Amino acid sequence: MQKALDAAWTRQVLTFPNPAVGAVVSNIEGDVLGIGAHKKAGTPHAEVLALKAAYEALTHDSRINDIEDAAQLHTFLKKHHNNLFHKLSLHVTLEPCHHFGKTPPCSSLIEELGLKRIVIGSYDESERAKGGGTYLQSKGVDVLFGCLKKKCDLLLTPFTCKEQKRPFVFFKLAVSSNGVATGGIITSLDSRLMVHHLRDHCDLLVIGGNTVRIDKPILDARLCKGKAPDVLIYSKQKTFDQTIPLFNIPNRSVMIADTLDKINDYSMVMVEGGQGLLDTLSCEIEWYLIFESPHEKEGEAIRLPEGLQKIFSQKVGEDTMNWYYKHAR
Ligand SMILES: NC(=O)c1ccc[n+]([C@@H]2O[C@H](COP(=O)([O-])OP(=O)(O)OC[C@H]3O[C@@H](n4cnc5c(N)ncnc54)[C@H](OP(=O)(O)O)[C@@H]3O)[C@@H](O)[C@H]2O)c1
Repeated sequence: MQKALDAAWTRQVLTFPNPAVGAVVSNIEGDVLGIGAHKKAGTPHAEVLALKAAYEALTHDSRINDIEDAAQLHTFLKKHHNNLFHKLSLHVTLEPCHHFGKTPPCSSLIEELGLKRIVIGSYDESERAKGGGTYLQSKGVDVLFGCLKKKCDLLLTPFTCKEQKRPFVFFKLAVSSNGVATGGIITSLDSRLMVHHLRDHCDLLVIGGNTVRIDKPILDARLCKGKAPDVLIYSKQKTFDQTIPLFNIPNRSVMIADTLDKINDYSMVMVEGGQGLLDTLSCEIEWYLIFESPHEKEGEAIRLPEGLQKIFSQKVGEDTMNWYYKHAR
């Protein structure tokens, strides 16, 4: 299940409004045959991608590699499985879906392929999709719920927030190897491209007034040709230089406010701030995404909030991208 979690975390936020989900197919000896992570809404679910990888590993039938569409993958696997999966297990961080949405239900695919055992992390509480685990149990599949449940529930937080109609808010920060977060560009183009992909999936960016005055940022998603989210400038000042690029991106609103109430009108919110914003908001924000460069920079190191717990780490080019969680006070 940890392997499924690690696969899913690489896509955190990028699958939104769908949940980030990971899955692993293994044999009785515990050898991993296929790993999958859901990539984005409307594309195959993690279970299907793990089954696809396992099918290819077991059969070397490379025809399946050319299939990207979810419904076509379901059809192909149902037609060609040849009882390959009968002795295999599937670990999945979220209960398999049990409804026709943008893709067919994973529960019916798993049933038809005849997997022996399904190990599930989090329950799917959404009205639309829930019930896949109990359905499979009723069909005689060995189903275990709640494996690494706390970790799987944490992974699911953005989706849970969406279901509960409250925003998922995270603080994004770039730091040098000696902790400096000021003085212009800090991380590599790979990290900045990742940030633009994240912006493309956010509907609001929050930025402090001082950063707007110092950096005059654009805050769009041009590196991935994505959409520019709305911007909330958190400031006690009412006016800013309207000629800076930030104010001149088509199809987005820029708000200036001395409260954060507007955040509640949005569902995926990234805060991009320096020390001032970090100090002001760290009592309320639970999630931190920190891009760390391997290079030193001159300046004062940023003071991070106390109690950050590292949840996931991955390389992005030469940098390291870390997700941290801390309980809000
Ligand atoms: N490395 C990174 O990821 C990153 C990201 C962003 C910024 N930075 C850097 O951080 C530096 C700026 O950091 P900073 O901490 O001075 O500025 P900041 O991140 O813009 O945050 C401080 C600003 O937030 C606003 N603010 C704070 N508390 C507030 C409250 N209670 N009500 C209303 N507004 C409030 C104030 O805006 P007003 O002064 O307008 O009232 C204040 O200047 C720059 O050098 C920038 O390049 C780095």
